[in-house]
Amino acid sequence: MRAHDAPIVRRSCLAGLGAMTVAACTARAPGAAGDPRPGWGPPDMPPQAGRGFLVTGGTSGIGYESSKALAAAGAEVVIAARSRERGEEAIAAIRQEVPGARLRFEKLDLADLASVRALAARLPEALPRLDGLLNNAGVMEPPERGTSADGYETQFAVNYLGHFALTAELLPMLRRAEAPRVVTLSSIAARYGAINFEDLQFAQRYDASAAYGQSKLACLLFALELQRRSEAGGWGIRSIASHPGLSRTNLQAGHGPFRRALRVLFQPAAQGALPTLYAATAPEARGGGYYGPNGFLEARGAVGAAEVPAAAADGGAAARLWTISEALSGARFPSAIG
Ligand SMILES: NC(=O)c1ccc[n+]([C@@H]2O[C@H](COP(=O)([O-])OP(=O)(O)OC[C@H]3O[C@@H](n4cnc5c(N)ncnc54)[C@H](OP(=O)(O)O)[C@@H]3O)[C@@H](O)[C@H]2O)c1
Repeated sequence: MRAHDAPIVRRSCLAGLGAMTVAACTARAPGAAGDPRPGWGPPDMPPQAGRGFLVTGGTSGIGYESSKALAAAGAEVVIAARSRERGEEAIAAIRQEVPGARLRFEKLDLADLASVRALAARLPEALPRLDGLLNNAGVMEPPERGTSADGYETQFAVNYLGHFALTAELLPMLRRAEAPRVVTLSSIAARYGAINFEDLQFAQRYDASAAYGQSKLACLLFALELQRRSEAGGWGIRSIASHPGLSRTNLQAGHGPFRRALRVLFQPAAQGALPTLYAATAPEARGGGYYGPNGFLEARGAVGAAEVPAAAADGGAAARLWTISEALSGARFPSAIG
């Protein structure tokens, strides 16, 4: 084991132990308005016929399950990811279970801002209307530091900055819908994340786990700030965050044998997709809300209100990151006023 793997393995062990003790845990009682009713599931989704969604990373895991459930409810779904082949495979697999599902694939590499802009430019031809953008795609803890086409650290670029830019580019299309939503995927990892403003790109010293935590905290800061700016500017967008707890997907597929083995303890991807589906479709889901599994440590369970870590509620940090992100990506949101 390399020295820098130690904290990663420790955190994985803790996460795994959390999942193991899940049987002993109790679900949190629903509280504030906007909390899901106990046992919320796809049958509770309102019909989605006539609504259009873009799901980044819909070829696998949470994005695949979200796309399938939305299509089964009648929505038209664009799955966007890097590989057309994997995209077509995913669509064929969904159509096996949901005959007549209205799905198409569009190529998107979030590690390349030119690809993000290109998708946003052609989306109106691919999808008549955009009611929901699911900022879902992600990568986790590549052991060596990688960089995007634009020179940014891979996890920062794919998980966060690409989605920041995509949302900005698609804002006009979203605003043409009646009740548009942006759902951004965070993670339990946001709790141990910190925004490393002095070295956002981990150029001085790369720590794969800290960079993942930073990217997922950035996603949560973004989702909450987007809601504040939408309210202040009258954009009419509901911005909601979600996380899938610990779910069995391909996210950990490239990791070592120990971490891969831990996946048997994780909940199925379809269960992990429920908080995202709730955020995307439930009439009572709150703008500025954060939803995740309601079991022990939010590792698994039915959909509930997720705990927002203190660092994610820091409006000053969110505004600072927003300004930096506009500069790094070249993407511009309208000014918050007007
Ligand atoms: N699984 C968990 O326990 C867990 C926990 C907390 C948070 N999450 C979050 O849940 C989200 C979904 O992850 P998952 O667990 O479903 O993982 P997954 O099965 O590995 O799916 C990741 C998806 O992201 C796409 N993707 C990766 N790099 C991309 C890029 N550069 N551009 C465009 N698409 C890209 C992949 O598609 P291609 O490879 O085909 O491009 C794939 O469809 C992520 O944001 C992750 O951080 C997951």
